[in-house]
Order: sequence, then C-alpha cells, then structure tokens
Amino acid sequence: MNVHATALAHAHLPDAQTSAFARDAVEDLSQSPKRLSPKYFYDAAGSELFEAITRLPEYYPTRTELSILTQRGGEIAKILPEGAALIEFGAGATTKARLLLKRCRFGAYVPVDISGDFITAQANGLRKDFPDLAVHHVVADFTTPFALPADIAGMPKVGFFPGSTLGNFEPHEACAFLRSARAILGEGAQMIIGVDLEKDERVLYNAYNDAAGVTARFNLNVLVRINRELGGNFDLSSFTHRAIYNRERHRIEMHLISKKQQTVRMLGTSFAFRSGESIHTENSYKYSIERFAALARGAGWTVRKSWTDEAKMFSVHALSASD
Ligand code: AVI
Repeated sequence: MNVHATALAHAHLPDAQTSAFARDAVEDLSQSPKRLSPKYFYDAAGSELFEAITRLPEYYPTRTELSILTQRGGEIAKILPEGAALIEFGAGATTKARLLLKRCRFGAYVPVDISGDFITAQANGLRKDFPDLAVHHVVADFTTPFALPADIAGMPKVGFFPGSTLGNFEPHEACAFLRSARAILGEGAQMIIGVDLEKDERVLYNAYNDAAGVTARFNLNVLVRINRELGGNFDLSSFTHRAIYNRERHRIEMHLISKKQQTVRMLGTSFAFRSGESIHTENSYKYSIERFAALARGAGWTVRKSWTDEAKMFSVHALSASD
C-alpha cells in the first residue's frame, strides 16, 4: 500500500464499504457520461499497481516530491515549531513522513487513515524506528471531520498531505478538504502539502500512458474489482485505457473506452455501451503555484513558502492557517 492509495481507499473493505462500492458503481455507470470514482482503484492489486506506477520512468511526481523533501528538509524544519504533532492525512507507506520526522523535532506523529489494519501496522513500524516519538494513529475518513487524539492537545499542529492526492479531488472538493483540515488542526496550524504542477503536455501525457502499460492495468483493475466484488461480467479485452490532458480544465483525465457495442451486467442491472463510449475513471488536476495559492487562500490558509525542483515539475508548500 502507499500514501496515495490509502488516501483514497482501502484494500480490505468491510461490508458497509462493499455496499457503498455497489451503490456508487450502479449509480455512476447509470450516468451519461458513465463514470467510476477513482477511490475504487485501490484494492490490494490496485495498490500494488500504483506502487509500480510510482517507480515508472515516465511517472515523475513521486521521485520529484521525494527529492524536494530530501533537499529542502532542513528549510522545512526551520519554519516548523519544535515539539509539534505531525498529522498525516491518508497516511500510507510513511516514506515521505519519515523524511520529515528525521529532519524536524516533532513531539508526535498522527497518521490518519480509514484502513485500521494497515494504519496499525504502519504505526507499529514507525514506533520501532523512532522509539522516542509518540505515535497515535487515528482510524478515520480524513475527508470528513474527525477528532485528534487528546494526547496531542497541547502541541502545535502540522498537517501533512503529500503526493498531490489533492489533484484527484475536484477543485470544490479540494477547497472543502483544505477547509476541513484547517478546522481539524485548529488555530495556528501549519500544513505541508505536495502539489503537481502544470507542465509540457507531452510529459504529462507520457506519465499517464507509460510504455510498459502499468497505468492501463491500474485503470482496468477497477473492472476486475467490479467483476470480483460485485459479480460483474466485464470482458477486459473489450475495454481500453485512455488518458488525455484537458488543457481548459488543467487536468489529466483517465477513461476506459468500450472497444465495441456491448452490454455488461452487474448486480442484476444491465449497462449498454456504444462502441467508443467512455467510463471516466479519474481526474488528476495540475496547478500553477498561483492557482494553488489562490485555492489555499480561499480555504483559510496562507502560503508561507513554496519549493519546486529545478525543472518546476512538482511543488511542496508550507501553509499556515490564516487568522
Ligand atoms: C494518487 N494520485 C495522485 C495519482 C495521480 O497521479 O493522480 C493517481 C494516478 N493515476 C494514474 N497514475 C497515477
């Protein structure tokens, strides 16, 4: 599993979540145009495929963000208060959090994720590697209000949301998330957030159309999951992966395209597809530094500092809660 995967969904779904998947899938495939939520990419296989994506030569975001956090760790440490609690929204493999934990003097680390088993395992690993650090994990859906542990009540709060997972939210959802994070973290809070940047369209296109076809398998995996968990009969060879950059909306769009006219059944419902018809599965918004700053401002945050790599591929921002 990884940061992004757990930020959006979970490998082992309890029944309530399986029925949410069923309800969402039936509703979303009944729309015109058809769609599926990207949060359903991340079952165990999807999480592994995403991990493989992060290692692809074409997929620059993960390694670029890691290099910014590594190179700028000292500067980041300088502007964060000593003894603060680091609260990671949708904590995953903790690789990026570890970089900050090594450089900054945090009083506690609070990974928040809906997947209880996963987050417990991650928290235990961290306790072993950082024996002096208090680790209080929280099992919660980080996109909705949740209570912070009482143990960190007196500490300054620093939110952490790496990976440009913000880009998978619609702009109004991104604003709502930032607002909610501010409310959860409280007055005087700070936040470190990773945001992917607009860039040469060819670079963006290649990042979501890798030569090895891993992104295609990741996209198609949602149909595998519907077949397995919801008794669907999608024929995978009749759908193809398409990712395009939508310049007007500053986003990569991922689609699954029906190669022919066909009918698919799932949960007693039939879904008719025209040849060439799309299921829109994901948006990945790309920001300019200015557009991200405006979004953050609208959600009650001030950008204190922004860092990018030399080629300006990716950005990391330090925010502070506006008064
Ligand atoms: C998790 N998220 C930030 C990834 C992205 O780039 O939008 C998901 C992804 N989809 C295809 N490749 C990677």
